[in-house]
Amino acid sequence: MSTERSLVLVKPDGYARGLTGEVLRRIEAKGYVLTALQVLTPTTEMLAAHYAEHEGKPFFEPLVAFMSSGPVTAVVIEGDNCIKGFRSLAGATNPTEAAPGSIRGDLGRDWGRPVQENIVHGSDSPESAAREIAIWFPGL
Ligand code: RTP
Ligand code: MG
Repeated sequence: MSTERSLVLVKPDGYARGLTGEVLRRIEAKGYVLTALQVLTPTTEMLAAHYAEHEGKPFFEPLVAFMSSGPVTAVVIEGDNCIKGFRSLAGATNPTEAAPGSIRGDLGRDWGRPVQENIVHGSDSPESAAREIAIWFPGL
């Protein structure tokens, strides 16, 4: 076991649908602690840094446009193995394929557009978490 922090985002689709509370409820029900939280509309500069690993991919520009289209809720969560644990709570990237019981499986769907609107983001490694937390919560 190792206590970790992860950066979670409730993406613009989840925020607009009023699902922030439901996502936070699931995080707290799992036993992770919310250590920082803010609602903001991210700049394209923040998103270019956040999604640097995807730069050059065909979905990069539509992804940045979607993610800057409205408010998101950014959250730092904390708990033993919460990085892997939250990704398990989130489910597969494609909400049509995500297992029922997961956030994306229960709350997400295909809206006839490419996979993009999948309600949440969660860091995928301790290195990503540290890098992402510095972008969304400088000084934390
Ligand atoms: P996330 O980073 O948001 O937690 O999601 P993830 O690890 O499951 O997915 P990742 O491969 O890192 O992709 C980041 C986000 O880009 C959008 N995406 N679109 N159109 C596409 O083929 C495509 N693939 C990915 C999704 O919003 C995905 O969550
Ligand atoms: Mg990812």
